[in-house]
Amino acid sequence: MTDAYEIVIDKIQESKISTTDFDNLTFGKTFTDHMLECTWRDGKWETAVIKPYGPIMVEPSCKVFHYGQAIFEGMKAFKDATGDVFLFRPEDNWIRFNESAKRLAMPEVPKEVFVEGLKALVNLDKEWVRYGEGLSLYLRPFMIASENGVAAAPSTEYKFMIVMSPAFAYYKGDVRVIIASDFSRAADGGVGYAKAAGNYAASFYPNNLALAEGYQQIIWTDAASHEYLEEAGTMNIFVRIGDTLLTAPNNDRILNGVTRRSVLQLAADAGVTIEERRISVKELNEAANNGSLKEIFGSGTAAVIVPIKGYKHKDFKFELPQLEDSYAQRFKEALKDIQYNRADDQHGWRV
Ligand code: COI
Repeated sequence: MTDAYEIVIDKIQESKISTTDFDNLTFGKTFTDHMLECTWRDGKWETAVIKPYGPIMVEPSCKVFHYGQAIFEGMKAFKDATGDVFLFRPEDNWIRFNESAKRLAMPEVPKEVFVEGLKALVNLDKEWVRYGEGLSLYLRPFMIASENGVAAAPSTEYKFMIVMSPAFAYYKGDVRVIIASDFSRAADGGVGYAKAAGNYAASFYPNNLALAEGYQQIIWTDAASHEYLEEAGTMNIFVRIGDTLLTAPNNDRILNGVTRRSVLQLAADAGVTIEERRISVKELNEAANNGSLKEIFGSGTAAVIVPIKGYKHKDFKFELPQLEDSYAQRFKEALKDIQYNRADDQHGWRV
């Protein structure tokens, strides 16, 4: 139970935490003791239940398996040096979740179910949030169409759930990317801005081709011309030309990233010149050739901020310089200082 909202809690008999190796975490493979489940049926949300993490029963005709009516969020909880636990900008994720829900014809999830549910779940499993550089608890709220039946129409029943996974780094090792010149992630009027599960499934095949060539991710370009940079794999993209920080503008093809917005705010606080505008591959290659391209990095909840070491576009290959004072490193440190409660939270991001 929380003060604001009643949640039924069914606790595990025995925690699995003692069998978890926190020094060797693979991203998204280990889950905490509990999960939250809340069902939408007959036009309303039922009482949320926190229960032991485990399989759920759904029939093979369940709509999510056939039409991919599914959305999710990526969030993190952090522990500070005194043992207090914080969520980072949870309302922003709740708002974006409901924007995704609307686009996928799913019901909106009330704030108390999402935010109070997260708080109650994290509180129950707070031993799973470890203090230490790079350590966090990755939170995965998601919603699936749970009605049985294969008619291609929105479900009449949904499950909102939250599972949680202790996390360290998302990427192990250097990240080099291919700039897409054929495949696209999203199109005008589509679902690119939503955290629709299918957006990620659709990226797996092109990403496998990139992996086979020794590149870890794809920089997505616009579907119409493949001339403008849009996103860096599962992350938003930042480019530093000279001392100016550039990022692609939000539109209906690009995810409105919470980490992206945080980086933009931190850059503005540091007095960095920022340009939110279209960045063409031509401009990028020219900057690479004339020495003004200093950095490319991606931002996202799971990955935080990831410097791109090199890129390939058609036959052109470029290795980014190693910088003493990189924006990627500077903003990553500034972000972590806020998340681990080592710095003033002047924007009210810690909850
Ligand atoms: C996140 O960064 O949290 C995401 O949702 C990306 C996911 C593919 C790990």
